[in-house]
Amino acid sequence: MTRIEAARSSAPDEGRSPLARSDEERGDPTRSAVTGATALERDPGMPTSTWRLRSDAWEYLRFAVKRLALGSDDVEALAADSEIHRSLRALETIEMYWAGFGQRYVRDIGELLELGDYRAALDRIGRVVNRLRGDTVPDEPRDEHLEELERAELSADADPRPRFEVLVIDETTPSDRDTMRAEGMRLRAPADSFIYEYVIVPSADDAVAAVLTNPNILACVVRPGFSDRTRQRLSRDLRETVDLARAEVHTGSAPARSSLASVQRVLGLADTLAAIRPELDLYLMAGAHIEDLAGALTRRFRRVFRREDQLELHLSLLRRVSHLYDTPFFTALQDHARRPVGVFHALPVARGGSVVGSKWIKDLADFYGLNLLLAETSATSGGLDSLLAPTGAIKKAQDLAARAYGAKHSFFVTNGTSTANKIVHQALVGPGDVVMVDRNCHKSHHHAVMLTGARPAYLEAYPLNDYAFYGAVPLSRIKQMLLDYRAAGRLDEVRMITLTNCTFDGVVYDPERVMAECLAIKPDLVFLWDEAWFAFAAFHPVTRRRTAMAAAKRLQERLRTGAHAAAYREQQQRLFSSDGTPGDDETWLRERLIPAPEARVRVYATHSTHKTLTALRQGSMIHVYDQDWVREAEEPFHEAYMTHTSTSPNYQILSSLDIGRRQVELEGFELVQRQLDLATSLSQAIARHPLLRRTFRVLTAHDLIPAAHREVGRPMPLRDGLATMWQAWTHDEFVVDPSRITIEISRTGVDGDTFKHEHLMDRYGIQVNKTSRNTVLFMTNIGTSRSAIAYLIEVLVKLAERFEEMQAQRDPDDRVRPETPMPPLPDFSAFSPGYATDGVRPDGDMRAAFFRGQRRKNIEHVLPDELRERVARDEQPVSAGFVTPYPPGFPVLVPGQIITAEVLDFMSVLDTREIHGYNARRGYRVLKPQDETAQQAAAPEGQAPPES
Ligand SMILES: Cc1ncc(COP(=O)(O)O)c(C=O)c1O
Repeated sequence: MTRIEAARSSAPDEGRSPLARSDEERGDPTRSAVTGATALERDPGMPTSTWRLRSDAWEYLRFAVKRLALGSDDVEALAADSEIHRSLRALETIEMYWAGFGQRYVRDIGELLELGDYRAALDRIGRVVNRLRGDTVPDEPRDEHLEELERAELSADADPRPRFEVLVIDETTPSDRDTMRAEGMRLRAPADSFIYEYVIVPSADDAVAAVLTNPNILACVVRPGFSDRTRQRLSRDLRETVDLARAEVHTGSAPARSSLASVQRVLGLADTLAAIRPELDLYLMAGAHIEDLAGALTRRFRRVFRREDQLELHLSLLRRVSHLYDTPFFTALQDHARRPVGVFHALPVARGGSVVGSKWIKDLADFYGLNLLLAETSATSGGLDSLLAPTGAIKKAQDLAARAYGAKHSFFVTNGTSTANKIVHQALVGPGDVVMVDRNCHKSHHHAVMLTGARPAYLEAYPLNDYAFYGAVPLSRIKQMLLDYRAAGRLDEVRMITLTNCTFDGVVYDPERVMAECLAIKPDLVFLWDEAWFAFAAFHPVTRRRTAMAAAKRLQERLRTGAHAAAYREQQQRLFSSDGTPGDDETWLRERLIPAPEARVRVYATHSTHKTLTALRQGSMIHVYDQDWVREAEEPFHEAYMTHTSTSPNYQILSSLDIGRRQVELEGFELVQRQLDLATSLSQAIARHPLLRRTFRVLTAHDLIPAAHREVGRPMPLRDGLATMWQAWTHDEFVVDPSRITIEISRTGVDGDTFKHEHLMDRYGIQVNKTSRNTVLFMTNIGTSRSAIAYLIEVLVKLAERFEEMQAQRDPDDRVRPETPMPPLPDFSAFSPGYATDGVRPDGDMRAAFFRGQRRKNIEHVLPDELRERVARDEQPVSAGFVTPYPPGFPVLVPGQIITAEVLDFMSVLDTREIHGYNARRGYRVLKPQDETAQQAAAPEGQAPPES
């Protein structure tokens, strides 16, 4: 008999946890140590923070029970410590959704505590804590008289192989569960590369709760005996999130007892689980009629098994994880590094050749390690592959990336998203095409448009003048621009729309809605979503829905349904009059437009994988979901890819993209969930701390998104819970990425740049990327730790104290110089008449202006004051090149654009250190007016005009 069994047999209420007793049964709360806190709710918290709650609860129990075990606290102290009870209660629900320990384990600890066997309780708690910390060596000496089962469990805990969890959904008895777990242990073989454990839950609700809270689950086994609703008392947030997730999937409406109904509920559950976590591997385990079920159900399940096929299931589970684990290029590169090869080719550093024998540069190898040099090679054979024409390891790695990101095709890019964007533009548009571009987008788009000879029609994002940056482009503006082109008879020229999702400051579009409504006006548009900052979003159920790839998939599925076709036909009646003329713009803007079922889904996304996920700097990807790929895009894409890709791509970047993909498939959900949760805890800490609250203000959706563009209306949805975030991310036109925290710092008395450099970096070594005059942007990412957040909070408190002190010390006679008010960020003025296409619509020939500006004789340098005078004389000076202040990082002037007083005002108060394309000593590069008009007329379309 184990100690707990012995304890149970002598306990008055055998087999039942004191925590499970009713309030009446508990009687006087002060009489029993463990039943002390009657009013506590059993609440596993918000799904996003369960991981933190779980780890804190176990750590706290260990700390408190250790004190009891060492005799430094007594039973009264335990009764008084409501935190112990709260932790046990929370864990009793949480552990149901995690493998290894489970509800019974937690209840047993409660019983041991009640029996006063603190030592045994501590042993059990210690086991969990060690497991959570990843320690294989217990930090407490173990009882020498452990039972066999306990010994087996401890040795399983110490198994260093990567571990995952498998969710089984079925109504089971405790003995069924024990048998299943024992069978799982029995099947474990020394040769297996991974080990897994079962989490067994009875109902569909519990299954959804488990996959939402426990990221270790990588596979689910559905057995048709599961029930529908949970018997657990879940937290409100978890309950609501489970309901939302389940409500999104339609299970069909066959009569309850029919065999079709049972197929529908199994499929409904599988669809729900797959929608939350597409990376989950789903199996069906059935008894009767397995052959019939196999036909009906394989759409969702990898395989259907009979119950007795445990070994087959075991092998399938391990095989699937080994597929996720596979890193074809990284593995090939390691093999290559280990092979003895002679280099009679380029690259002297290969195999350390020019380094290890050198007297002077040995420290290169010392610092990076020899492996870096062994992995440097220019070979494309011997197991490696060519990025330009991949057929082997690189091709396979790219295909796996497509699977991970939900794309049809993915391509690795070793020169950042700056290059990825140029590749996509060049693949899809050509001279004369109109591209609707967010003016506020990264400069690589502007450069790409210039290179292709396409004509940009700039879309203006809504400005956030109080903080000196932009938001995003409202859908109504995009639609209006398309309608304007239609009215001008030029809609056929509009080929592509490119937008930044999410923006640097975290404003996120609803790509599915944007694409659907735009396709309703022009059904063959192509979309390029610059998701440089959003690669991580593919790995969380709420953020994923706003990624371009997920949106494309949903849109394509929607277009195929009968309900969509019916809604489309119905709306057409309202949009067109009986003679086929479109109704007024107001109607088209007011309606949520429904695209024709034949509309084409042609979507591209570019990711700076390196910005938010594991990849070496510059490691980026292009993801494609294009229905017309083969016919329309594949060949031009490859030409464009060849144009911009180095023939010596960096192998270390490629292998980091490959192994980073492994990471996101196996633990992406866990990492992103943690990133969002830590960001929320940071913003909460600032909002709650009296000093921080006085000094800093976290900008919320209410500050960053005008009210007209949000329906849910909560300032920080995730702070209210995952369910509120889910609602906002489903309904609002724009949402804010919670992992980006913009803090308004005007009350510190210093500007954003000084705050960043002098205070955060120089004083405390804290690096942030972006500031504006009065804001600083903090980002959490998948590498952010709890300690890093704690350190940042500590630093902010120190800085707040310092700023308060500085304000207090300020001599009232020493008046602060009034700050020059920042003028609003100027909208795009217009292309000068020489470059504007028709002088009515906003597009123009930027490439012609650019190449003219590249000839010295066509331009002059003009200092700001003189330029201001010319503008005052109603002249229209024209920019010869791009002028891009960093930040904000997008061009304030592009070639061919009229320079206006607003642009000059803005530039004159800009406190940015870097302005690309502008030399303060020489002034602006301006096209000489006399050349401009005459030569423009002579220029063939899409080409630079001849030189004067
Ligand atoms: C929206 C956006 N797109 C593209 C890029 C360029 O990405 P990369 O640095 O990977 O070239 C950036 C860089 O900051 C960006 O913010």
